[in-house]
Amino acid sequence: AMGMEDVVREELGSLHGIPLYKCFIEGWPQVEAFQARPDDLLIATYPKSGTTWLSEILDMIYHDGDVEKCRRDAIFNRVPFLEMKVPEMLSGVELLEKTPSPRLVKTHLPVWLLPTSFRDKDCKVIYMARNPKDVVVSYYYFYQMAKVHPDPGTLGEFLETFMAGKVAYGSWYEHVRGWWEKKQEKQLLYLFYEDMKKDPQQEVQKILRFLGKEVAEETVARILHHTSFQEMRKNPAANYETMPTTLMDHSLSPFLRKGISGDWKNHFTVAQNECFDQHYQEHMAGSDLHFQMEA
Ligand code: PPS
Repeated sequence: AMGMEDVVREELGSLHGIPLYKCFIEGWPQVEAFQARPDDLLIATYPKSGTTWLSEILDMIYHDGDVEKCRRDAIFNRVPFLEMKVPEMLSGVELLEKTPSPRLVKTHLPVWLLPTSFRDKDCKVIYMARNPKDVVVSYYYFYQMAKVHPDPGTLGEFLETFMAGKVAYGSWYEHVRGWWEKKQEKQLLYLFYEDMKKDPQQEVQKILRFLGKEVAEETVARILHHTSFQEMRKNPAANYETMPTTLMDHSLSPFLRKGISGDWKNHFTVAQNECFDQHYQEHMAGSDLHFQMEA
């Protein structure tokens, strides 16, 4: 059997043309056949776009702002990661089968790869998008600390890989645009990381309306406090520190690294930024989807 040390720093495989971890691809038949339940709520994101933040907010909403209940387990067990499969751990699908309803489900899949059951059961979806410059910087650090990834090289090299859509989960452009096209559907709420940074209260209210839930004002305040970057960073149930170090090495870079908008300015050279802007304009042409590159 493949041991955990074997997942380390492997080249990515390809799932229907999307670059992905080979161990996830092995588990794909189970993901494709996944049976959603009508009251499942899907949290969909391109990697490093605020998935964990949104997950913690939703778990708090689902538990009426009870902080202790939200410490019952690590975030990756409270909100199972649908397509996750690594040696010696329960797969996302296995974990979801054991999870009582109503379930929160995390996925990074592009919309066209989503298992059909979510649509058949008419499940609600919340998508969160983040500007690509901050995504690529966050992803660069994540490639270093999460050892399921190949070596990212220099930031300059990684920018090329990202723009070419050769990182795990493929093209950011296709991902955000693909999900954006589904936005007219009543069952999909499309959110932005930058809006959540600027006015988390307003975004949490949007989520509550979307879910048809009403909560007391002091509960909203407690949710906002508990899900702030500072609180989540020191919370072992939210900060991924309980992941085996063979998979994530927080001494290389913490999972909750900076949690701001515009950190790319501390990393991109002027030339890299111009090249990125050019590429961005080409790939977002004709779309009414717009990003704030800083808060
Ligand atoms: S993953 O691995 O794809 O699920 O990662 P994801 O959770 O989507 O993204 C990680 C980035 O989100 C930041 N983060 C937050 N920002 C602000 N507030 C809160 N509460 C918060 N929680 C997580 C996290 O720090 C990563 O971004 P960077 O820019 O690397 O700090």
